[in-house]
Amino acid sequence: MQPTKSTELELSPLTPAYDSILELAPYQTGKPVEELTREYGVSDVVKLASNENPIGCSPQVTLAITEQLGKLARYPDGNGHYLKQALSDFTDVNIECITLGNGSNDLLDILARSFVSADDAVVYSQYGFIVYPMVTKMQGATGIEVPAQRFGHDLDAMRQAVEDNPNTKMVFIANPNNPTGTQLQHRELHKFVASVPSSVLVVLDEAYIEYSPESNNRALLDKFNNVVIVRTFSKAYGLAGLRIGYALSSTAVADLLNRIRQPFNVSRVGLAGAVAALGDQSFIEETRKTNQEQMRWLEKQFDALGLAFIKSHANFIMVEIEDAADIYQALLEQGVIVRPLASYGLDNWLRITVGIAEDNLRLIDTLRSILTND
Ligand SMILES: Cc1ncc(COP(=O)(O)O)c(C=O)c1O
Repeated sequence: MQPTKSTELELSPLTPAYDSILELAPYQTGKPVEELTREYGVSDVVKLASNENPIGCSPQVTLAITEQLGKLARYPDGNGHYLKQALSDFTDVNIECITLGNGSNDLLDILARSFVSADDAVVYSQYGFIVYPMVTKMQGATGIEVPAQRFGHDLDAMRQAVEDNPNTKMVFIANPNNPTGTQLQHRELHKFVASVPSSVLVVLDEAYIEYSPESNNRALLDKFNNVVIVRTFSKAYGLAGLRIGYALSSTAVADLLNRIRQPFNVSRVGLAGAVAALGDQSFIEETRKTNQEQMRWLEKQFDALGLAFIKSHANFIMVEIEDAADIYQALLEQGVIVRPLASYGLDNWLRITVGIAEDNLRLIDTLRSILTND
C-alpha cells in the first residue's frame, strides 16, 4: 500500500495516534451498482466484484426481517441471545464462546484492538485479505507480510516469521483465501497451530467456508485455546447488506472481545435475519451447487479465451489478464463490474465473483469482445 500523507495533513498540527495510520489507504470496496449508473449512465449493470451471493438470500430471511420493521424504535438485544443460541446449536460451540460482529470485518478490528498493541507484530500472508494489514497498522503494530507460495499461504515460512519475531501477538489466515481462492488442508493448519506459542492468537478467517465445507477447522477450537474462527453472513448467506459476522473462540477470548465491541454492534434486523438464514440450510446447498456449476463453466470459458486462472475454492476466481486495469475499465464502461487487484500487488489479475448463468454469460461475451476488439 502507498503512504498517503497529504500536504494538508503534513501542515496540520493534528497528528494521528500512530504514524502507521498514514501508511493506510482507505479500503477500496467493489464499485456499487448505483455509482456506475451515475458515472457512465449504464443501467443494466452486472456486479461481480464483492463476492456477494448472486442468488440473493433465503426467503425466510425476508419474512423474519419484515416482522422486525414495526419494532425499530427499540434497541436490539445487545447480547444477541437467540442468534448466539442458533449458532451454538449449528457449530456445537458453547454460547459463551461466540462473539457477534457488524460483519466479520468488525470482528477482525475488535480482535486487533483487544490483543495487539504498538509494540507487537502481526503475521499474515502476501495476498492475504487486505483488512489484516489495515487493522494491524491501526494499532501502530508491525505487520509482517510473509511471501506467498503459489499464491497461497506458506505456513512453514509463517511459522518461521513467528519464531523470528518473538513479539508476534497474532497471525491472520484466510481459508479459503480472498482474493486468491486458495485453500489449506486441515492437517497443515493443525501442524501450524501446534507449532506456534500458545501466546500467539491464530485467527482463521472462514468467510467462504460454506463454499468449501472441507475447509472447516472448527475441530481446532477443541484443542487450542489460541485459535479464533471468524465467519460471516455476507457471502453464501447473501446478507452482505445486513452486516453480521461471528467469532468462535475460547471463553477467555470471547470475554475480552465482548468488552471491546460496541454495545449494539448488530442491529435487530440483522439478528433476526441471521437466525432465519441459519435455519435455511437448503438455501446454502442450492447456493453451493449453483456456484460449483457456474465456476466450472467460467473455467472452461477462460480456458477457451486462453486466460490463466487460479483454481478457487470459494465464489470468485482470479484471472490473469495483461493490462488488467484497462480491461477492468473497459468492462466497467459496458456495465460489468469486476475487481482489479493492484492494491494487492497483483497488477495483471482481476478477481471475478461467480454470478448466476446470465451474469457470467454477459461477462464472458463482454470480455471476449474487448479482448478480440470486436
Ligand atoms: C476473507 C474475508 N474476510 C472477511 C471479510 C469481511 O466481510 P464482512 O465484513 O462483510 O463479513 C471478507 C469480505 O470480503 C473477506 O473476503
